[in-house]
Amino acid sequence: MLKVSVLLVVLTAAYCFKSYDRYKIVRVDVGSEANLQSILSLESEGLLEVFSESRLGYVDVLVSPKNLAKCQKSLHSIGLRSVERVDDVGAQILQEKAALLSAAPMADGSYSYDSYHRYDVMISHLESLVASHSSEAEIVDVGTSYEGRTIKAIRMTADISSDESDDKPMIWLDGGIHAREWVSPATMMYIIDSILGEQETDKSDKMGELLAKFQIVVAPCINPDGYEYTHTTDRLWRKTRKPSGCRWGKKNWFGGCFYRMCYGADPNRNWAADWGNSGVSDDRCSLVYPGKEPFDQENTKAVKTYLENHSDKLKLYATYHSYSQLFLTPVGYTTTKPENWKHHKKVGDAVVAAIAQRNKGTAPYIAMQSAGLYPASGDSADWVHDVLGLTDSYTFELRPDGNSNVGFELPADQILPTAQENVDGLLALIDNIEYNNI
Ligand code: ARG
Ligand code: ZN
Repeated sequence: MLKVSVLLVVLTAAYCFKSYDRYKIVRVDVGSEANLQSILSLESEGLLEVFSESRLGYVDVLVSPKNLAKCQKSLHSIGLRSVERVDDVGAQILQEKAALLSAAPMADGSYSYDSYHRYDVMISHLESLVASHSSEAEIVDVGTSYEGRTIKAIRMTADISSDESDDKPMIWLDGGIHAREWVSPATMMYIIDSILGEQETDKSDKMGELLAKFQIVVAPCINPDGYEYTHTTDRLWRKTRKPSGCRWGKKNWFGGCFYRMCYGADPNRNWAADWGNSGVSDDRCSLVYPGKEPFDQENTKAVKTYLENHSDKLKLYATYHSYSQLFLTPVGYTTTKPENWKHHKKVGDAVVAAIAQRNKGTAPYIAMQSAGLYPASGDSADWVHDVLGLTDSYTFELRPDGNSNVGFELPADQILPTAQENVDGLLALIDNIEYNNI
């Protein structure tokens, strides 16, 4: 049996899955902004791909076996020190795939935190929660993705069918905007289960109070096309899946692409807040291509429209990414402090303290202004902050910590501790938002 499944893994890997066989993760020291720019220019030449979210002191980059020698030579010639961190990314991915294949299949509507699950499994669990909590939960259809998947959220509040419930102050949480950050949707599912008393049962009083006061809308996976693609085809896909045109806009004589067709935009560069100015690339094939214009991606447009329609009630926006264990406060496109940064600092301190309290002995989360990580325009939290004018608009980076070798492939046994500490982080966050302190 084991042999058969291993064979299956190898076959799937060989025939439909993008291979990362002998790709390496290399850590490069970056002392200065100039060094970082050199690395980014190697990235635009296609020699490497910047992998880590944090750029404080070093970055981790992904290098293919084909480019390795050339890449090392270039790094060396600019005087950048590098060390190998992962010698075969492909092997790491196969290991994860094998674990997924050996996980027990989920019965319809159920969910577990010992494995990562497909989009339809998440949605059918939301539907089963709504069926068993019909007085406090309903499904919201936020919109449709490019490939036609319904982006669903769950809206939770006490006495949900009453007219008054629509007017309650709103909390919005989303996950999975970046496809490969698998622990994000998993954490959102746990947060939903906890709010409805299916998990964290010792917190039922607190959750009851929250449901009485707020309407809480959670969209666990707002880039379902990308998420599914990471399961079927390319584990390290980040963007959406809408074709964005030929690379550098160049066609060949036969009307095809001269280089190649590019797919997707970075959905966290696609929002109309300082759109297109920093931390982006006009290469349509780039990981940080912001789209042709703000909201040209179906999924960001759908979420934006929902948020706009409820902006008069919105009191908290939080979006969940991985990895690096950070709590990021606005704004992300400039290191200039926003006028409400003192409040952000206080909130950040409270959130990271609550997380540290839950899982003692693991590396702490760090709170900082988002642009301190690296300036990047067009992210969702900045749009909510700047355009909807909401003070409490934040980005989480979940496990692993920035020093990790596993990166986006957080082993499934860490889903639960990640999710648990983030229930506590969220409760501390809610306690500290402006709305709860006036
Ligand atoms: N790591 C996420 C991303 O690259 C969030 C970045 C936070 N925003 C920022 N402007 N630095 O999209
Ligand atoms: Zn992300």
